[in-house]
Amino acid sequence: MSKLNIVLFGPPGAGKGTQSEFLIKKYGLVHLSTGDLLRAEKEAGTELGLMAQEIMGRGELVSDEIVIGMIRNKIEANTAAKGFIFDGFPRTQAQAVALDAMLNAKSEPITAMLALEVPEEELVKRLLGRGATSGRADDSNEGVIRTRIREYENKTAPLKAYYSAQGKYKAINGVGSVEEITGRLMKAIG
Ligand code: AP5
Ligand code: MG
Repeated sequence: MSKLNIVLFGPPGAGKGTQSEFLIKKYGLVHLSTGDLLRAEKEAGTELGLMAQEIMGRGELVSDEIVIGMIRNKIEANTAAKGFIFDGFPRTQAQAVALDAMLNAKSEPITAMLALEVPEEELVKRLLGRGATSGRADDSNEGVIRTRIREYENKTAPLKAYYSAQGKYKAINGVGSVEEITGRLMKAIG
């Protein structure tokens, strides 16, 4: 059976991490979040983690080279997986091209890119709400949250056209209850 490789796409606070939890259980997939991987490096106090910490604290994107290397390692470490949910990756054209090259070399291409759509003011509200308890430095300051959203608009949102050209882009309304949105995603996966 062919593998299910989903890019779960959307701006900061769109619900990528929240929805990934349900989808990995439902479809038996491996969850790959570059944000989570970078935060784990930071917790472990690695050189990479310390370097990334500053950039993440400003709300800017970490270098393509670093995140592509992390994803490559994880794909190679999970060859038996039924498929992957890519959460927060790719975020630039270079990352998308690198991901396609890795997956196409294994004849396991991206199945679909599902883009959660949420208005900016709702994103800011959600992230400031989480910042009160999460301890994530990039959630505690509205200026940093808006920088993250600008980075998304400038560098990441153009990937909709990249996947659209492959017939893989699907927009999903990301406003509503968590369950409603899971239902929309499952319907889109089919
Ligand atoms: P990353 O960790 O990927 O963060 P992000 O994309 O900025 O956004 P979040 O993870 O905060 O949002 P989410 O969409 O997962 O939403 P969530 O489910 O948590 O990246 C962090 C940083 O790492 C980047 O800024 C960058 O520096 C670096 N980085 C990571 N990947 C990179 C890459 N590929 N290239 C370069 N740099 C990279 O939900 C958010 C909140 O909303 C939660 O509190 C949740 O409970 C709530 N919520 C969820 N669903 C709903 C709902 N339906 N209604 C109401 N509230 C909801
Ligand atoms: Mg997340």
